[in-house]
Amino acid sequence: MALMEWSDRLSVNIKEIDGQHQKLVDMVNRLHDAMKEGKADDIVMQIVAEMKKYAASHFATEERHMKTHSYPDYPAHKNEHDKFVAKVVQVEKDLKTGKCAMSMDILNFLSNWLVNHIKGTDKKYSPFLNAAGVH
Ligand SMILES: [Fe+2]
Ligand SMILES: [Fe+2]
Repeated sequence: MALMEWSDRLSVNIKEIDGQHQKLVDMVNRLHDAMKEGKADDIVMQIVAEMKKYAASHFATEERHMKTHSYPDYPAHKNEHDKFVAKVVQVEKDLKTGKCAMSMDILNFLSNWLVNHIKGTDKKYSPFLNAAGVH
């Protein structure tokens, strides 16, 4: 069973962003599968690196929309993104140096952060951006 399931409850009512969120959910599931199947560390690391890159480009999309429309909560929202990227960078570094192995704790952090951020923080911009014509 997949670790995370996409559902309409996660929708922010903006097509491009829902698509990006679905891809991030897929990546967490791929990471989970790779760990479950005992895939080699370099494969796990490759997925983490891919996720970091994709998350950064997804955050850039959201930040662009928020900035364009002068979304009032932009600074706090961007701060959450920056903290997440810093955490993933740290995880990547620890994996590379062998300081720690990929664990369910890290995986749960990634999946919980993603769900909580989408449901809590991302969903808040929906009515604002929808009203500004972003769908
Ligand atoms: Fe998002
Ligand atoms: Fe966000």
